Amino acid sequence: MTTSKRLEGIGEYYFSQKLREIDDLNKQGKNIINLGIGSPDLPPHHDVIKVLQEESSKPNVHAYQNYKGSPVLRKAISQWYKESYNVDLDADTEILPLIGSKEGIMHICMTYLNEGDKVLLPNPGYPTYRSAVKLAGGECLDYDLKEENNWAPDFDAIEKIISSGEGVVKLLFVNYPHMPTGQLPDKAVFEKLVNLAKKHNILIIHDNPYSFILNDNPVSLLGVEGAKDVVIELNSLSKSHNMAGWRVGMLCGAKERINEVLRFKSNMDSGMFLPVQLAAAKALSLPTTWYNEVNRVYAQRRKKVFALLDLLRCEYSKSQAGMFVWAKIPGGYKDGYQLSDEVLYNASVFITPGGIFGSAGNNYIRVSLCSTEEKIEESLKRVAALQVLV
Ligand SMILES: Cc1ncc(COP(=O)(O)O)c(C=O)c1O
Repeated sequence: MTTSKRLEGIGEYYFSQKLREIDDLNKQGKNIINLGIGSPDLPPHHDVIKVLQEESSKPNVHAYQNYKGSPVLRKAISQWYKESYNVDLDADTEILPLIGSKEGIMHICMTYLNEGDKVLLPNPGYPTYRSAVKLAGGECLDYDLKEENNWAPDFDAIEKIISSGEGVVKLLFVNYPHMPTGQLPDKAVFEKLVNLAKKHNILIIHDNPYSFILNDNPVSLLGVEGAKDVVIELNSLSKSHNMAGWRVGMLCGAKERINEVLRFKSNMDSGMFLPVQLAAAKALSLPTTWYNEVNRVYAQRRKKVFALLDLLRCEYSKSQAGMFVWAKIPGGYKDGYQLSDEVLYNASVFITPGGIFGSAGNNYIRVSLCSTEEKIEESLKRVAALQVLV
């Protein structure tokens, strides 16, 4: 059977392939420690689980749900945005709950892109942006982020990309705290993004799932004056509330944008299980002690990850946000893939090569904080025992 044309050039997602290889190595008895993937290993708050249990035992919660999501969840999202980011969102018209923000990236591309429409993407950046744009028939244009520029977009370079290419740039994806570099958001950069979008009539998609992880000052791009005219923001409970497998995210923006995306999304899925939505609402109302506790654990783990990176002679910034540490590989390695393979095959520890996030990540690796301190310590021992490091 031939696959559709739209799948041409779209490979299986890197982690989906790599996890299979790790599985095979484990079957051979290797006991790989996976410091690759950003899936929180800790559970959600017990009150969140309690709501799911209680609600799902009721007889009247099992039907299809409203395509725009439960009003209870939309209200909770609106309050969370006000309390966390000081952003006002109308719970009835400016919020669309999503089955995960990854899915939202696809909905947005399918809603706005025609064949050949251009989209600016961060390099390095989350690989899903690229595949979603391609699947929707769009054309990807990279804007490079560089360490010497604090991983901020180079606005002059972006202006050149916009004015030199044929066809219209319709969307621009951006994400701070940035994955994979951990770079924090910057107010001036945010304001420039909004100005750029207004000048060129570009819709900016700000992907904001990491604002509560190892970051004292969560911000939303929607907090910039006038941003609602040109910005859609995606957010998620996957990382901040340890609910990655629950698949709960949200899309926030002007009423018109919500209705446009809903035209696509309501033909794709039929909403989320109501008890999941009610439990998500509970999660969003947790006090700040929840975030403090999550961050206490990540901060402890991060100290050990720093020690691991020191052993590998990598360089890194200590003020990164999010659940990873991004680090530059030492001279002697061709790229992050070589270092990652060496550590995987010789020390049975998996670390993500930075190149999977784009060519600008080639000389970097990314270590996840989603493993216990014991596992990170064990990785340290295994890497310390390695004789063959370049
Ligand atoms: C930058 C970024 N955006 C979005 C997502 C997807 O999150 P969700 O679980 O809400 O789909 C991830 C997950 O790894 C991510 O790293």
